[in-house]
Amino acid sequence: MKAVLSKSVGGPETLVLEELPSPEAKPGWAVVSVKACGVNYPDVLIIEDKYQFKPPRPFSPGGEISGVVKAVGEGVIHLEPGDRVLGNTGAGGMAEEIALDASRLVPIPPAMPFDEAAAFLMTYGTSYYALKDRGHLRAGETLLVLGAAGGVGLAAVELGAAMGARVVAAASSREKVDLAKAHGAQAGVVYPKGPFDRDGQKALADLFKQACGEGGADVVYDGVGGDYAEAALRCTAWEGRFLVIGFPAGIPRIPLNLALLKGCDIVGVFWGAAVARDPAAHQRNVRELLDLYAAGKIRPHVSERFPLARAGEAIAHLASRKALGKVVVTID
Ligand SMILES: NC(=O)c1ccc[n+]([C@@H]2O[C@H](COP(=O)([O-])OP(=O)(O)OC[C@H]3O[C@@H](n4cnc5c(N)ncnc54)[C@H](OP(=O)(O)O)[C@@H]3O)[C@@H](O)[C@H]2O)c1
Repeated sequence: MKAVLSKSVGGPETLVLEELPSPEAKPGWAVVSVKACGVNYPDVLIIEDKYQFKPPRPFSPGGEISGVVKAVGEGVIHLEPGDRVLGNTGAGGMAEEIALDASRLVPIPPAMPFDEAAAFLMTYGTSYYALKDRGHLRAGETLLVLGAAGGVGLAAVELGAAMGARVVAAASSREKVDLAKAHGAQAGVVYPKGPFDRDGQKALADLFKQACGEGGADVVYDGVGGDYAEAALRCTAWEGRFLVIGFPAGIPRIPLNLALLKGCDIVGVFWGAAVARDPAAHQRNVRELLDLYAAGKIRPHVSERFPLARAGEAIAHLASRKALGKVVVTID
């Protein structure tokens, strides 16, 4: 079977496609013939050794997959060969086959295409856990989403709308804001591409305040970081919740007096660790997400598909800030 491998630290151009022996299903595990692999920002980071997990090399990037179960190991009872599944893999998804702990795999509805299934778990899983379990978003509240046309951002827009919030989408181009509006945002703001000096940051905070209205944002979903974070924190409402999701624009340093002045919470969100610590809560969330999908309230926007041999280009597309919604690597 073929796999895209990171054999040395570096960008997407360092990835190579190689032939490897097929993996085997040890007890409790399953082997999946991969049909599609969702590309996420952690793939940009993991091959450069900048992510919180550093798999030993050589490894394949690719943190979530969909496919067909090829074999199951002893003791696996909830799956059988031929089942259509999705799963979070951490890494290893950019390959024709993957072996993983069967508890990481979830059967998918017959009507769910493989590309949407591979673009489902990481974004909606993260954003649902963030908005529901960490942000306690309530109907009628204002939700400001930064990077609103990115993977986790667009999922937050759809989920926020499904939860009854007034969603304000913020992104770096009109095309991105329009996409977020088509997915449920009621208002939008186009922000410049940073970095920003003090005046630029103040102007950015004013942009966010204008878009959110007088009270500010009850919940801020920050999957961007960098200079955007402080500007968005300045727009957080009294007793609001500022959700720390990710840092494609850099890791910000925040003056803590802002949290005091606004009486707000700055809330860390680490979905992968939450899944490992409370698998039952994760499974409940996945069931609720699949129900929202079945009801037509959420649906991954897959804008680009790349074949396995061009997986590096898929990762580079994300790193260049060009991606709309989700990018997926597909395997025939
Ligand atoms: N906390 C968790 O548990 C968790 C789980 C999954 C992912 N994440 C993190 O969430 C973040 C977003 O992940 P994603 O997969 O949704 O990524 P994505 O699809 O690439 O979206 C990221 C967005 O960030 C914005 N951005 C700002 N500066 C950028 C830059 N220099 N390079 C690239 N994008 C930039 C872009 O929107 P604009 O152009 O509109 O600004 C882009 O749409 C990442 O940091 C990722 O590690 C966290």
